[in-house]
Amino acid sequence: MAVENEIPILDQVGECLRAAPAHRRRTDRPFVTLSYAQSLDGSIADRPGRPLALSGPQAMAMTHGLRASHEAILVGIGTVLADNPRLNVRLAAGPDPQPVVVDSRLRFPPYANLLKNRRSPLIATNEGADAERQQALEAAGARVLVLPGSNGWVDLAGLLRHLGLIGINSLMVEGGAQIIASFLSSRLVDQVVLTIAPLLVGGLRVVDHLGHSSRRRLPRLKHLSYQQLGDDLVLRGEPDWDG
Ligand SMILES: NC(=O)c1ccc[n+]([C@@H]2O[C@H](COP(=O)([O-])OP(=O)(O)OC[C@H]3O[C@@H](n4cnc5c(N)ncnc54)[C@H](OP(=O)(O)O)[C@@H]3O)[C@@H](O)[C@H]2O)c1
Repeated sequence: MAVENEIPILDQVGECLRAAPAHRRRTDRPFVTLSYAQSLDGSIADRPGRPLALSGPQAMAMTHGLRASHEAILVGIGTVLADNPRLNVRLAAGPDPQPVVVDSRLRFPPYANLLKNRRSPLIATNEGADAERQQALEAAGARVLVLPGSNGWVDLAGLLRHLGLIGINSLMVEGGAQIIASFLSSRLVDQVVLTIAPLLVGGLRVVDHLGHSSRRRLPRLKHLSYQQLGDDLVLRGEPDWDG
């Protein structure tokens, strides 16, 4: 059964991203879309470090469409180690986004699929990260961006300013749990596209993982829309940071 007032999420995102260049000029950082899939109980994985396919084929294709509509895509090193993702566009038409990995200790593995992509990954790390690892990753084709550290983790606001400086207008953040929590608690999210799969997992829950971030109240979403894709429900909204 279709959801009432169904609006194609990709059309809405495309409309929203038309304003991304103006957003970057105004804020000095890209427009940020947070997008992930969760079970009914809010789990994004079975357990930390383990991949779990949650989205059905139609929601997966929508996710690839989202990738194609953003200029860059970001994940944490935990996701690279657990899922070994490619982060490119395979199930939709359109260009691959620039992959960005947040990795304060340069744990990025030499076998990573991201090193086999047409677009080499940008690995954001902290001052003090191992110089030999940096050299090895650069020799393998990655670009390493060294930023001043923040609580031992990569300073996301500083990273976004750098992405803004190099001309990236739009960034899709795909996970995992700690990265999602950090972006939300740093209030660096402009839009959320959430796939809700109809199953219960009892696994790794996003909001249980606030990590090093401050425990700020998480916002309500406004300007909501919904779309049913196969068995999944996709929700889009904008965090109401001022509400
Ligand atoms: N369902 C979905 O849509 C979805 C999407 C993606 C991933 N996942 C799942 O999520 C799980 C991985 O999540 P995770 O929480 O373990 O890892 P993660 O969020 O991918 O990466 C977290 C790691 O990134 C590094 N980091 C550096 N700066 C950070 C910052 N400012 N904020 C947060 N992290 C920072 C930290 O490692 P260092 O201290 O070493 O730098 C941290 O442990 C996997 O099981 C994966 O399958 C699910």
